[in-house]
Amino acid sequence: MNVISTLESLEQTVASLKQSGKLIGFVPTMGALHAGHMALVERAKKECDVVIASVFVNPTQFNNPKDLELYPRTPEKDAVLLSEHGCDFVFFPTVEMMYPADLEFPVVDLGVMESIMEGAFRPGHFKGVVQIVWRFFSLIQPDKAFFGLKDFQQVAVIKHMVRSLNLPIEIVPCPTLRETSGLAMSSRNMRLSDQEKEEAVVIFKTLSFLKEHVSEYNPSELVKKGKELMDASTLRLEYLQIVDPASLLELDDAWTPGATACLSAYCEEVRLIDNMRLTEE
Ligand code: PAF
Repeated sequence: MNVISTLESLEQTVASLKQSGKLIGFVPTMGALHAGHMALVERAKKECDVVIASVFVNPTQFNNPKDLELYPRTPEKDAVLLSEHGCDFVFFPTVEMMYPADLEFPVVDLGVMESIMEGAFRPGHFKGVVQIVWRFFSLIQPDKAFFGLKDFQQVAVIKHMVRSLNLPIEIVPCPTLRETSGLAMSSRNMRLSDQEKEEAVVIFKTLSFLKEHVSEYNPSELVKKGKELMDASTLRLEYLQIVDPASLLELDDAWTPGATACLSAYCEEVRLIDNMRLTEE
């Protein structure tokens, strides 16, 4: 695997891959990699000729400076894992490379997506995600980009950006990987103690309960049941919503195909998100 750490060498690499007609798969990450990221790399390898991953903790998508400071960083381990899983190139940029002073970022109107769920609790988060993903896309010019569905709203936002800016890139959403306990894999899990990891399984249990009982209640009744389960736990729920998968608008008394329950909760100081599709698409 080649490690790229300058814009010049990234540009040369991309130019030569494009010249030889290679299909480029891109896996953007913030590092602290785990099996969930490796599943993205493996999917990209199956569907593309070469895989480029990026490792960059993007400051503009953090609304909370403490969260940015405490975000786990394991660059050496990340490089080893990526290489073991057959990634061809990894790009480790600096903030200056990604945000040069003279660069103008396109403005993408995210509509309500910006102010609901993650957008409501992390103001400015999706603006930062759109900026960095657009920047990577313009540097790497991938044919396909692979994103984990644990960040369900992020996938919707990125698809919207690609449509709005007419970018010739296919967004490939990939299933969430879970620990055997059901806890969704996340870089943030590194900040949980063993005891907290056990407590955090209530998220999966709650989502699974909603899925099991989908035929007995309407969406708002079911959300109430889910909130009761979360409130009885040690976690602090931020939101639990059942939404339409395309508009992300909250469902009230009627189900739609692909209705998805999304939640965020704090396990001590660590903010976790997860989601589960409740009805067939
Ligand atoms: O999902 C993530 O890890 C990040 O939001 C992303 C897409 C790498 C952008 O910084």
